[in-house]
Amino acid sequence: MEFDSSARTGRYKRAAAEAAVDRFLLPGMRVGLGTGSTAAFAVRRLATLRGQGHLLDVLGVPTSRATQALALELGIPLTTLEEHPELDVTIDGADEVAPDLSVIKGGGGALLREKIVAQASRRVVIVADVAKLSPKLGTHWPVPVEVLSFGWRSQLRFLESLGARVTPRKGANDAPFLTDQGNLVLDCAFGPLDAPSTLAERLGARAGIVGHGLFLGIATDLMVAGPGGVEHRVR
Ligand code: 5RP
Repeated sequence: MEFDSSARTGRYKRAAAEAAVDRFLLPGMRVGLGTGSTAAFAVRRLATLRGQGHLLDVLGVPTSRATQALALELGIPLTTLEEHPELDVTIDGADEVAPDLSVIKGGGGALLREKIVAQASRRVVIVADVAKLSPKLGTHWPVPVEVLSFGWRSQLRFLESLGARVTPRKGANDAPFLTDQGNLVLDCAFGPLDAPSTLAERLGARAGIVGHGLFLGIATDLMVAGPGGVEHRVR
């Protein structure tokens, strides 16, 4: 029976994530554990290898409460950036990946912790299915912007003034989505971005904006899976 496209996407996500764990994780490493369905395949692969007696001394730093819960459920030992401020590698998913390995993240709302953990890591491996590849960031995906609830409508106006169509993210029962830090997320559709670094600078300079989903110059490696198998790309 032929896979439907979502089953195929799931198969690619799993292939990319498992290949990343097999290639990059070594005994004794301190590892950032990403958030989302692709990253969850990597967490599960690590648990499977541990079940076979491998990588038993690897410690994980989760990038969200959801990933923390999954890792604990699977018996993966965890640590914190307080105990280990420098990590060997982080494996995480992405929403959109440009040719220079700049990415948009935050579809799961974990963008701030994901960026903190990634920036604390010597190597950052993005795992993705081929549908995430894009010629320019912003083509297929909005830029998530995490804002304090204090003054959030002012941030919405500010983001509109930068050219975005802004959608406040909703959670369960149509209530505002809240991040693990209790902040709001404004999804900002800019369209294809010619100068993502200029936008990132503007977002970074604005009080009340606590994070954004533009990860520029952070990813070191990409494991991308599609019909031809898994490909490794380096920045
Ligand atoms: C969460 C993220 C995810 O990595 C991103 O949304 C990709 O998710 P998925 O692997 O489920 O497609 O950035 O904040």
